Order: sequence, then C-alpha cells, then structure tokens
Amino acid sequence: WSRTARKVDGVLEVGGVRLPDLVAQHGSAAYVLDEEDFRSRARDFRDGFSGFDVYYAGKAFLCTEVARWVDQEGLHLDVCTAGELAVAERAGFPMDRVELHGNNKSPHELRRALELQVGRIVVDSFHEITRLADLAAETGMTARVMVRVTPGVEAHTHEYIATAHEDQKFGFSISSGDAMAAVRAIRETPGLELRGLHSHIGSQIFDTSGFEVAARRVLALHRQVAEETGVQLPELDLGGGFGIAYTTQDDPADAASLAAEIRTIVTEECAARGLEVPRLSVEPGRAIVGPSMCTVYEVGTVKAVELDGGAVRTYVSVDGGMSDNIRTALYDADYSCTLASRRSDAPVLLSRLVGKHCEAGDIVVKDEFLPGDLAPGDLVAVPGTGAYCRSMASNYNHVPRPAVVAVRDGVARVVVRRETLEDLLLTDVG
Ligand code: LLP
Repeated sequence: WSRTARKVDGVLEVGGVRLPDLVAQHGSAAYVLDEEDFRSRARDFRDGFSGFDVYYAGKAFLCTEVARWVDQEGLHLDVCTAGELAVAERAGFPMDRVELHGNNKSPHELRRALELQVGRIVVDSFHEITRLADLAAETGMTARVMVRVTPGVEAHTHEYIATAHEDQKFGFSISSGDAMAAVRAIRETPGLELRGLHSHIGSQIFDTSGFEVAARRVLALHRQVAEETGVQLPELDLGGGFGIAYTTQDDPADAASLAAEIRTIVTEECAARGLEVPRLSVEPGRAIVGPSMCTVYEVGTVKAVELDGGAVRTYVSVDGGMSDNIRTALYDADYSCTLASRRSDAPVLLSRLVGKHCEAGDIVVKDEFLPGDLAPGDLVAVPGTGAYCRSMASNYNHVPRPAVVAVRDGVARVVVRRETLEDLLLTDVG
C-alpha cells in the first residue's frame, strides 16, 4: 500500500486513480498495477544491487508492457518457458539480457533460445546438456550456460516453494558430485560456453542465512572447478526469493541491505578461498512486482456464520477467488483486505473474504476485520497480489481471468485485457 491513498470519502486511490472509477470503466474483479511503484522497486534493485546483474523473474508476473518497463529500468529478464520468451520478444526486450530457466525445457524452447541468442541458458539436467549440445551443433550457435546446482539448504519457507534441499526436482546436487560432473560435461562440449554456477534456494524468504549457506557451498564448488580446470568461472547467480510483507507481521529487508549482505558474504568467502569475486546476479520477482499490484473485487453476498462456541464469522463473497489468487488455497498464504469504495464507521466484524468458486477452500483472505455494514456492491481491495496471482490464475469453473489495469498519474490503462466467455469457448472445439 506504499503509494495508495485513502480519500476523505473513504475511497482508495492507487496511482492517482480512484478504484470505483477504475471498476466503473474496466469492470471487476481487476488487478490494479501501480506503474510507478513497479518502476521504483525495479530501480531500487538496480541501484541497490549495483555491480550485479539483476534479472526480473517474469514468472511472478509478465506481460508485454511490464517487460518494456523492466527493459527501460535497465534490468535483465528471467524467463522459463517459450511463452515467457515470446512475451520478451514481443516487447523487443534485448535478448542478450534474457536468461532461460526450466528443469524440462523442450527442444523447441531450447532451439528458440539459441535462435534468439538469449544471454544465458541455465541447464538443469544431463539430458538437457545433451539436447542443447545437439541443437548447438545443428544450428551452429553457441549457448552461454549456467549450471543450476542444489546446495542442499533447507530454506525457511513453504515446502512447495523451497528449492535447494536435496529431495526435489531442480538442479544438480553438489554433494552427490553431479554438479561437478555437469561442469565437466559442459566444458567438454563444443557449442556450450560455461559462464558460471547458479543456485536458487526458494521463495518468500526472510532469513538470509539460507543465502549465506548456499553461497558458501556454491563457492566451494566454484573453487573446486578453478582448481581442477585452472580457470575461475566468471559469473555466479544466487537466484531470487526475497520475501515481501503480506501482513503487518512480515518485515522484509530493503534491496540495498540485501545487496550489501550478499556482497559481504561472497566477498568474504572469495577472500577466504583465494578467489576473485565473480560477476554476481540475482533474480527477484516477487520483491519487485508483489507490492505493486492489488486486486479489487465487488462484494456479491454477505453471510453471517455461527462458529462452534457461538462466535460469528462473516463470509464476504466476491466476484473472483481462487481462479485469480490461488496462493491462499495452495500455500496457506496470508493476505489482508480493506473496503475500497466508501467510508464506514460501522463496528468491524471478523470476516473471511471468499470467492465464487464451487469449493469451500476458495478463500482469498482467511481473517480480516471488515466493517459490519459491508453490503453487495461495495468494493474490497486486496494488496500485495502482484506476484504469482495473475501468473498462476486459472479458468476454474469457466471464470474468465480479470484484466490487469496499469495506473499512473491519475490515468488507468489496460495492459492485459479481461478474458471473455468467447475467449474460453474458442478452445472448446466440440
Ligand atoms: N529464480 C528462479 C530460478 C526461480 O525459480 C524463482 C521462482 C525466482 C528466481 C523468483 O523468485 P521470487 O523472487 O519471486 O521469490 N508460486 C510461488 C512461488 C514460486 C517461485 C518459483 N520460482 C508463490 O506463489 O509463492
């Protein structure tokens, strides 16, 4: 909510646009993307991490317009499918600043990345090394690659989004020797140019000790490579995962202090091991786009439900739900919400913001105190929905996905249009 103002009439304004006006023009539910907020977070990472390459992780949220902003703010772009790559291409994103991820990139995706000469391809398996080598030979292109390694770290986050412990699908294990074997295989393969090691320990992480342990283990491998080959790899990518505040309990570090911490860790480790400090890169997604977006919904029904023990919970149903924000159902994520369309002095009630889907787990905000006079037609806004909400949205129950409306200096413009029922029926050829 950093750049959101509540007016004297209680109406929420984002980027100078009153949310009821935005809904009147563009409909509800809608994702509202504050352009200046996005850009300033991108700049905070660019400046805070000066001397690093900062890749915006497009999986958090990507569309053509956002790819342009990322380019204009001087960041690099991390994509992990042909789809995300196609968006980058359409935005005219400089391909030498694009990096392709993925644990199961298709031959088509690899070929496209080679043809477009993306800056880095992060390899994730021995099959992929072979596949990429064949394609490089066939096309005559050279692939600049990073090796995704698994440092064996237990990141403190939800188990579904932790990625550096051994028992998961990503990367080459350092401890088993696979990572070193992958380095050797790449070095022996013509058409593949090894640039460095890559690790990503997970997402929505506050405790930087995970990055510290990962950096130490990855640098130990980096040194082993230097000893064996006589060459120090020029780059090191420590991935993304920096947490943001979804509720008042969360207390994230700012980009500059994260950068300082990471730089110190790496510099000290390199000094202790007699290594030159490689070119560092990071891949923040959530920390840039997460706080820049909110979702605005219209209330449809309000229902008081008596709980065991006599307490009452008010169920507020809105015109969206788990199809536009799966994170509460999937990760037990915490969100907050607020009345956005008017002022209310009514006493607050313990409320739950729920969607319109045919499933009891269709919850957007588990617990919130909302005014007791909430009624159909009121607008409710949920902050912090920029990351992994639109990008993970579905058409469950054949609900069209909402528009993304960018706001700036009092002007609202659609950057991803709302889907229509016709869009949904187009793929149904029966
Ligand atoms: N780099 C790599 C290799 C990644 O896999 C990811 C996220 C990132 C960077 C960006 O992480 P961030 O800075 O956004 O945390 N859907 C989950 C998050 C999945 C993260 C996937 N990889 C969620 O909604 O919490």
